[in-house]
Amino acid sequence: MTYLLALDQGTSSSRSIVFDAQGHIVAMAQREFRQIFPQPGWVEHDATEIWHSQLATAREVLTKAGLKAGDIHALGITNQRETTVVWSRKTGLPIYSAIVWQDRRAEPTCAALREQGLTPVVQRKTGLVIDAYFSGTKLKWILDNVAGAREQAARGELAFGTIDSWLVWQLTNGQVHATDVSNASRTMLFNVHSNEWDAELLQALDIPPEVLPAVHPSAHDFGRVAAEHLGGEIEIGGIAGDQQSALFGQACFKAGMAKNTYGTGCFMLMHTGAQFQSSGNGLITTSAAQASRTPEFALEGSVFIGGAVVQWLRDGLQAIKGSGEVQGLAESVPDAGGVMFVPAFTGLGAPYWNAEARGTIVGLTRGSTVAHIARAALESIAFQSAALLLAMSRDAVAAGGAPVSELRVDGGACVNNLLMQFQADLLGIPVVRPKVIETTALGAAYLAGLSTGLYGNLDELSRHWQAERVFHPTMPRERAQELMAQWERAVRQTTAT
Ligand code: G3P
Repeated sequence: MTYLLALDQGTSSSRSIVFDAQGHIVAMAQREFRQIFPQPGWVEHDATEIWHSQLATAREVLTKAGLKAGDIHALGITNQRETTVVWSRKTGLPIYSAIVWQDRRAEPTCAALREQGLTPVVQRKTGLVIDAYFSGTKLKWILDNVAGAREQAARGELAFGTIDSWLVWQLTNGQVHATDVSNASRTMLFNVHSNEWDAELLQALDIPPEVLPAVHPSAHDFGRVAAEHLGGEIEIGGIAGDQQSALFGQACFKAGMAKNTYGTGCFMLMHTGAQFQSSGNGLITTSAAQASRTPEFALEGSVFIGGAVVQWLRDGLQAIKGSGEVQGLAESVPDAGGVMFVPAFTGLGAPYWNAEARGTIVGLTRGSTVAHIARAALESIAFQSAALLLAMSRDAVAAGGAPVSELRVDGGACVNNLLMQFQADLLGIPVVRPKVIETTALGAAYLAGLSTGLYGNLDELSRHWQAERVFHPTMPRERAQELMAQWERAVRQTTAT
């Protein structure tokens, strides 16, 4: 038997999964780690704790699977994106906490860049909007605020990386400082057309090139795990940021193929092939995981509050005791009874981009119950995702393509049948849930298998992908359009005070 090991380093936990060559899960291990909130708007992780938790799960999963390092054909890494680490090349120790993607502290730098008129340049070269979400301004913050950092950087003593680079450095005992195109494309420093760090953007953000990792395709020989970590050497054959990795794991390799990951938030990506496509509808353009040196792209949009709305029902409204109760409560009523819930707790992302919006519940009557609110909360995940997919389809059509014809789903909440059926009803296209919903880790395993010759090509991987259930739309289209119109009216009320 041939096995692949995927390290999936996420925002709230580190996980390791062993897959067999057919992409079936053999064993899984998971550890949570601390979330650090030093002040409002700041979110940090301890990079050393991340490394230790990741290594512990990798060891644990090998034990669970009854395997040794020598049984693993190759290892792939996928990771929370944009989270920024700067460490000493000499000691391998971080000089500051990892600044997490959710952290907003770099907003003043972003405002200054916008002032300088850099928005079109950034958009054209990186596909991104200028936002504190991305790594570049977080890196600048560390260099500007940690005593002595700029001097050390200028002497070539510091290394910057997203979590993938940090793990590769640790796994190889400092032999390799590298990243892949999908992670690099989230830094706001990377030219996604030439697949190179961009001198103009580095200068605009005052980033010394000495700190940067080498950038490779996502399927690539990134070096070997040093024997002491997992009891033997293993080749690191693939790296991709988690959302691009999920797109890959869903076998969305061609233009127009899309996936949505239902987690705390939702991330929707649509492959656009070799075409860099700018959105006319508030989406960003990003590098897809790449098996070769040819650039490939995706359009991306995210829902900030997805599954998190269920946590709010539990902790804020105290309508349920455990998240698992939500489906039963929502199903106890035939529909939301005209109640619309827009969970704009932290503003609204694409396609609305309204930072001032706040959560709103409309359509309450004397007959409304907590069950209607629970159902509306669940439906809000589908409404927000539908708005994203409609934006993507509009972009696809504007670029001369066809609207998205099917949505592949993954992530924790995709097991909720009520939600998936409602999603299909709203969209009017099939929603397809694969047999393996751990597509993020699977994507990294596939990339590692591809670079090491276990798989011949993408067609072979496409044949592995299997649907577990297809949710076909059953709602009349007029009704779905009416509901979307009601949703848009409710969205407009999120800023009405
Ligand atoms: O862009 C942030 C994203 O990569 C985080 O994903 O699944 O770790 O929350 P996740």
